[in-house]
Amino acid sequence: MAEKKTVRDIEVSGKRVLVRVDFNVPFKPGTDEISNSNRIVASLPTIRYLLGRGASVVLCSHLGRPGGRSIQELSLRPIRGRLAQYLDMRVSFSESTNFQRIQQDVSRITPGEVILLENLRFHPGEEANTVEFSKELSDLAEFFVNDAFGASHRAHASIQGITGFLPSVAGLLLEEEIRSLEKVLLDPLRPFVAVLGGAKVSDKINVVNKLSLTANKILIGGGMAATFLSASGRFVGSSPVEENFLDKAKSLLNNSPDGNAKIVLPKDVVVSDEFDSQSPYRTCLVSEIGEREMLLDIGPQTRDIYAKVLSDSSTVLWNGPMGVFEWDHYSEGTRLIADAIARDGVVSVIGGGSTVDAVSKFGLEARMTHISTGGGASLEFMEGKDLPGIVSLLDADEPYDKGVVG
Ligand code: 3PG
Repeated sequence: MAEKKTVRDIEVSGKRVLVRVDFNVPFKPGTDEISNSNRIVASLPTIRYLLGRGASVVLCSHLGRPGGRSIQELSLRPIRGRLAQYLDMRVSFSESTNFQRIQQDVSRITPGEVILLENLRFHPGEEANTVEFSKELSDLAEFFVNDAFGASHRAHASIQGITGFLPSVAGLLLEEEIRSLEKVLLDPLRPFVAVLGGAKVSDKINVVNKLSLTANKILIGGGMAATFLSASGRFVGSSPVEENFLDKAKSLLNNSPDGNAKIVLPKDVVVSDEFDSQSPYRTCLVSEIGEREMLLDIGPQTRDIYAKVLSDSSTVLWNGPMGVFEWDHYSEGTRLIADAIARDGVVSVIGGGSTVDAVSKFGLEARMTHISTGGGASLEFMEGKDLPGIVSLLDADEPYDKGVVG
């Protein structure tokens, strides 16, 4: 991908800078208590950088999927407090969805101050990526910075539309995400091992396809292993199988002949008759899965095989847990893989919301090289797709006013 201009390339002193962040963070159910603030923490370097150079910082984000309507439970207000705490300064909040009011709120902040706007998806023009809404957003600032890697696969007004109206550059987080993922995808230290899990094969099949060209090994776990096992002729009991992806899975496996298998499937699994944290469970070989049983974790033999492959690796890309790690009986596979990846001397890049949750549950965040803030965005990036929020930014060698119409 062409190198992009970043915040380091713009002169922001005394300027108003609109920064798109991804504050789409999880909350404890039924409360306004943030349960994982990784994405807020990850945005701090860019915010501090801009404040330190005398910019007025206008932050904007989406939260959830309100569908163009104001929904109180999806207000960004609770995030203002957490941000103020991290930055150790006052953060203003513009709660209006009326642009005149937003303009007034924004005009009150001075260099070195921060204001957070209300959820962008309360406006129908955001997801529709309308010219009007993009223009309204652009009237709030003199520069646009995209630091929302996690939302950069969305062609929305605050991600893509706005770049037609303001000089638009990458934030420090976006830059770091691109650099870390590109390094692993294009020039990994070898052996390079990909660990892919999670519930659905449909989410990951294109990534498996892409990585099968570059990785030395691909270790498969999680619910999606059932589709691969089924494609390899195994009976997987009541485990959900995505029939539409069997042929693709089969052809990927066929390109990975046994003996020197590039794609490695579980040999044994932990199964239960029910998808329930408390129901009886057992460990068995994949050849022994019963009619009513479903696969809920990789088994101990598989853990050992995968841990051995990982112990020989220099680079690991991990996306998707190995089982239902949120439940104690099915957390061992994911825990062991997380431990095996968190070794000194391994370049480890972790992506996907639940994988990041697993790493944080096991207290291993600090031991990973890069934890991506992107879920869908990191998958699309790994598939080799152009993300609208990245391609629309200025290339490093472009003039500032290129394509800017207003
Ligand atoms: C995410 O959580 O993956 C991003 O914030 C994008 O959210 P979206 O899938 O609702 O666009």
